[in-house]
Amino acid sequence: MLYSNLSVNDAGHLAIGGIDALDLAERFGTPLYVLDEDMVRENCRTYLTAIGECLPEGSGALYASKALCFKGIYPVVESEGMGVDAVSPGEIYTARAAGFPAERIYFHGTNKTDDDIRYALNAGVGCFVVDNFNELAVLQSEAAKRGVMQRVLLRVTVGLDPHTLAAINTGRVDSQFGIPIETGQAEGFLFEALAQPNLQVDGFHSHIGSQIFEADSFCDQVDIMLRFAVAMRDKFGYVASVFNLGGGFGVRYVESDDQVDIAGNIHAIAEHLSAGCAAAGYPVPRVLFEPGRSIVANAGTTLYTTGGIKTVEGYRDYVTVDGGMTDNPRYALYKSAYTVLNASHADAEPDFTCTIAGRCCESGDRIAEDISMARPERGDVIAVLVTGAYNYAMSMNYNRIPRPALVMVSGGEARLAVRRQTFDDLIACEL
Ligand code: LLP
Repeated sequence: MLYSNLSVNDAGHLAIGGIDALDLAERFGTPLYVLDEDMVRENCRTYLTAIGECLPEGSGALYASKALCFKGIYPVVESEGMGVDAVSPGEIYTARAAGFPAERIYFHGTNKTDDDIRYALNAGVGCFVVDNFNELAVLQSEAAKRGVMQRVLLRVTVGLDPHTLAAINTGRVDSQFGIPIETGQAEGFLFEALAQPNLQVDGFHSHIGSQIFEADSFCDQVDIMLRFAVAMRDKFGYVASVFNLGGGFGVRYVESDDQVDIAGNIHAIAEHLSAGCAAAGYPVPRVLFEPGRSIVANAGTTLYTTGGIKTVEGYRDYVTVDGGMTDNPRYALYKSAYTVLNASHADAEPDFTCTIAGRCCESGDRIAEDISMARPERGDVIAVLVTGAYNYAMSMNYNRIPRPALVMVSGGEARLAVRRQTFDDLIACEL
């Protein structure tokens, strides 16, 4: 199996964290998101242990809420010692509703409205990651009104092009995120920020993209940030105490993907940074990472019930499922590859080639094309693996399909964390 928490039990069924997937499907219904909390914890520990081994004290990891945001995730990441990256007041609200301490929240967003800024200040978030000049001005004025000194990081664009999908590559010089170094504008951004009496500039942030497999791209990112930081020290006498390197470590979705050595990459990045700092006579800054996908993706599995096989003779066999792009739009958006299993016959040969189709009136409603699995029959439980990140978070109600429930499993026990939407939920905002 792709990950160690998945196995085949004596009944020949898929087991997730030791629990029979068919029992989960029967107890909670399908489609169902299953999140293995123990796996999430293990992923957090991989980051925090490696960071503790090779980076200065005060370095850490912020869980990028956007990957999977619901109340139940916050006590888990909090108890592991992570901070949180929130990209909207809605994410801040959810984290706070779950009791996550505001001072450990970093507030992101490329177009924070005046209301967003006020909301986050009133909530007492620890740090704003300031994206642009407009935000800087409003933040200063709102912080002054409240008589507070607000910690900030400045989001700079390093102008890198890691090998990932264009849609999730955010570090290119012409991206809409942050202020570019290459054009000289980041220098003005820092100058402006340093002049604000109610803002304390802790350092710089950049994020180069997502689903990145090589450490090299992150080392290039460090080089560019350090070169900029050294130039700013020489120019303004400003020394950054924090480099936030964003998220982006890749995750193995299918057998042919590499397994990313996160601890090894963190060590490689740390060595690279220390060597660069030593050469420039620059104090090694505290380093923050913002992992989302690599914390939750491999902890998630989606269970569906199949409506059976639909054969288009001479062309294609479809396996239909009771969910689809509404709970996982990633194939429709990015053609993302997934591993799909017949959980009811997880021990059988995966010798049936098929396309998994959802239930929307939309030909793009597919989860995978031309994959192999054990031939299913109507009623079998189909499992799509590695769906913990950017599935529930990106789910929608197209065709008025209710969002699935989410169950957390830990230590062999399952508990409902998000109940299934009802039809009444679908019309709840309608007057
Ligand atoms: N920090 C910032 C500023 C980000 O923009 C992102 C992701 C992260 C951290 C977390 O990156 P991760 O560790 O998850 O790679 N919907 C797309 C992914 C979009 C990622 C956007 N930013 C997908 O389904 O692949």
